[in-house]
Amino acid sequence: MSSGMWAEKYRPQTLDEIKNQTEIVSRLKNFVKERNLPHLLFVGPPGVGKTTSIIALAQDLYGSSYRNHILELNASDERGINVIREKVKNFARTAAIASDVLFKILIMDEADSLTSAAQHALRRTMEVYTRTCRFCLIGNYSENIIEPIQSRCSIFRFSPLSEEDSKNWIRIIAEKENVNLIDEGLDALYEASMGDLRKATNFLQAAAASQDRVVDDIAIYSVLGRVSPGKVREMINLGLKGEFLEAREVLRTLLIDDGLASEDIIRMIYSEVLRLGIPEHWKVKLSDTIGEIDYRLTQGARPEIQLSALVARLALAGEEMDI
Ligand SMILES: Nc1ncnc2c1ncn2[C@@H]1O[C@H](COP(=O)(O)OP(=O)(O)OP(=O)(O)O)[C@@H](O)[C@H]1O
Ligand SMILES: [Mg+2]
Repeated sequence: MSSGMWAEKYRPQTLDEIKNQTEIVSRLKNFVKERNLPHLLFVGPPGVGKTTSIIALAQDLYGSSYRNHILELNASDERGINVIREKVKNFARTAAIASDVLFKILIMDEADSLTSAAQHALRRTMEVYTRTCRFCLIGNYSENIIEPIQSRCSIFRFSPLSEEDSKNWIRIIAEKENVNLIDEGLDALYEASMGDLRKATNFLQAAAASQDRVVDDIAIYSVLGRVSPGKVREMINLGLKGEFLEAREVLRTLLIDDGLASEDIIRMIYSEVLRLGIPEHWKVKLSDTIGEIDYRLTQGARPEIQLSALVARLALAGEEMDI
């Protein structure tokens, strides 16, 4: 197994290597073909390829010397808009050298964290240097970007990767790193990362390091410090079948042996209950109870007693449903 962050090691280098995001990739490839770009605004959740896409575009556009033609700034690192303006000015005023592309690309990550005043200043800067510089603003939410900037940019909305694409990606990395990734581990990884490939890759790497290259769901959940849905499911099923004492025993192992936080357990119970094959009105009733107990926990009630009460409620529900 090699050292270094796998998420970085396996970051796609060209637009062709980017998974999913097909429509975005094809629009970006068109810009490369035309050797021209509008200002860009990339928005979407973390770990889905926003930064990767603009760097890959730069490599496709400028070739191996692409670093000379781009400047990456992080809006939340740079102290104030004046610092940004100064950096942009220095970078943008010289035309790109030794390239058939006559502009450079300024990448501004976390642009949605700039104050609206700073964004207005940035907008003027964008206008002044449009001839020699294209801006690629990146953020999680387009709502936080002021309208005049949005209207000057082509907007690209990235979405989380599908389950299939995420899993394929993880499988490939596991293979390359000689990790024995069990199916349950892969499911757990997807469940914990929900299409965020950076997260999925980091969890895989951490689990592989601590479990001697064998990664199953237990390894993933121990890395996450979260409840394994399998155990919670077992507890719920025992409860519904009226086996209260056994269900409470599982609860105790979750709380005491695994040392899990009651908020994590109750969150997992909630998501499992919603997936149960029971009548809709029972899901409503149980959700109501879960909400009540969740509230009591936030008020400092004792977790073991409250969660036992929830298991008891499941047992009563199971009896009434005749499970
Ligand atoms: N669509 C994708 N195809 C292939 N790899 C991806 C993709 N999206 C993310 N990755 C992987 O996840 C890592 C993080 O991706 P990236 O930096 O592009 O995320 P981001 O969308 O910019 O997230 P953030 O909002 O947190 O900055 C990459 O190094 C790469 O390994
Ligand atoms: Mg990024």
